[in-house]
Amino acid sequence: MPFELPKLPYAPNALEPYISKQTIDFHYGKHHQAYVNNLNGLVKGTKFENASLEQIIKEADGGIFNNAAQIWNHTFYFETFSSSDMRSPSGKLSDAISSTFGSFAAFKEQFAKSAATLFGSGWVWLVKMPDGSLAITQEPNAGNPLRKGGIPLLTCDVWEHAYYLDYQNKRPDYVQAFWNVVDWGIIEKRF
Ligand code: FE2
Repeated sequence: MPFELPKLPYAPNALEPYISKQTIDFHYGKHHQAYVNNLNGLVKGTKFENASLEQIIKEADGGIFNNAAQIWNHTFYFETFSSSDMRSPSGKLSDAISSTFGSFAAFKEQFAKSAATLFGSGWVWLVKMPDGSLAITQEPNAGNPLRKGGIPLLTCDVWEHAYYLDYQNKRPDYVQAFWNVVDWGIIEKRF
């Protein structure tokens, strides 16, 4: 079975004005689709032809890893958003964030700083580590915490293609807007 582009769980304009339909059309419709097409070409005739994305992320290197991880990361990123009002965590996740980072506001500040200081292209993650603790991590390029045994809870794509149409070079403005579309109900289910 070839890999396929998952359907977006909302309309392309649902995240406006924070993430525009134009950005979704390019980011999801062109970039995400290209990683799917690339991977399908690369795995033909390899041991990864019928593997899951998670298996490829844990075991592969080079182009196969890069394209599989980019598919997984983008699906996970796009599925974090909704137009709901769930803009802060509750329950056990809220408690864990407060005890780890001091407060939800302090967590957001540290996450935004990690996004701003990641040099070049990559992803910032909120991860449940193998020992159950929470951490904010930076991964360059297609990096994914699954490779190190972590459970991803939240990610922000800081490749320029994620924000350039809406925010040009102002990555911190994009990250501030990002908080207005994150659905913490979805992250609580992952936790
Ligand atoms: Fe991206």
